[in-house]
Amino acid sequence: MSDRAEEDTVAVRVEDGIAWVSYNRPEKRNCMSPKLNRQMKRVLEDLEFRDDVRVLVLTGEGDAFSAGMDLKEYFRDNEALGIGAIRKSQREAYGWWDRLRWYEKPTIGMVNGWAFGGAYGPLHALDIVVAADDATFGLSEINWGILPGGGASKVAQELMPFRKAIYHAMMGENLTGKQAAEQGLVTESVPADRLRARVVEIAGVLKQKDPDALRATKWAMRRMTEMTFDNAMDYLIRAQEALNGMGGLEARKEATKQFLDDKTFKPGLGAFDASKVKK
Ligand code: COA
Repeated sequence: MSDRAEEDTVAVRVEDGIAWVSYNRPEKRNCMSPKLNRQMKRVLEDLEFRDDVRVLVLTGEGDAFSAGMDLKEYFRDNEALGIGAIRKSQREAYGWWDRLRWYEKPTIGMVNGWAFGGAYGPLHALDIVVAADDATFGLSEINWGILPGGGASKVAQELMPFRKAIYHAMMGENLTGKQAAEQGLVTESVPADRLRARVVEIAGVLKQKDPDALRATKWAMRRMTEMTFDNAMDYLIRAQEALNGMGGLEARKEATKQFLDDKTFKPGLGAFDASKVKK
């Protein structure tokens, strides 16, 4: 099937607090068409504030994570229509990557196969990314005569050591999941048959944390990349004070009580029981 309905370009399943969201064009190696980009934004927004979703996982159906932008539907067809169509489809794509980058819930990438070019935008937006050892990562743009746009080169430059990033962008050689982990492009890689179990394990840990503290932490980590040391110090004070106003003070009191008085947990060894917080 090559011409899927828009709502069929993304698959979603919510199970046990985890929203499993998949690029769903396996016959096109999950490359991102305008239809898919529009549907993905809708899906992400629908899931963001659902009480039954604690963690979101992005992955791909079949043997690809995503083969990047759709060379036909995203590039060639829009270029034929002109600047208005080009900008519209850029905004649709960048829009959902941006939404994902500042998502209100923790997010995990599960890279099961091909991940090229435009797929680096979502990779960067995801908080934790686990790849199969034999997944394939590439800035293939140089192989077909363009530069790695859509943020892809910026993502490589931000996440990888500079010498590795510039080589990766200029040579058009692919990396395995294992190499991508060694070079900082993803968090870790595991054998393909362990991929899902490892993602469920990470999601399980995240599900035990206080959701507001988690959200404040991921935003701080992202915001601080562009701050001076002094600005970061100040931002962290303000962010914690804002968190206090959202019930963070009660969470901290309860956690402190569980450690100091009840002696039911040790912060150095795991999370407190956040279900006991009165918010
Ligand atoms: N844009 C448009 N179509 C794509 C695509 C893309 N990025 N990636 C794959 N497809 C299509 C192919 O044209 C083919 O369509 P068809 O069945 O109608 O002929 C189908 O998906 C299957 O792809 P195919 O190349 O036969 O699969 P493969 O498993 O042999 O190879 C890749 C997989 C990912 C190595 C190869 O498809 C590829 O190089 N894709 C482009 C990757 C890329 O450069 N992306 C960067 C874009 S920014």
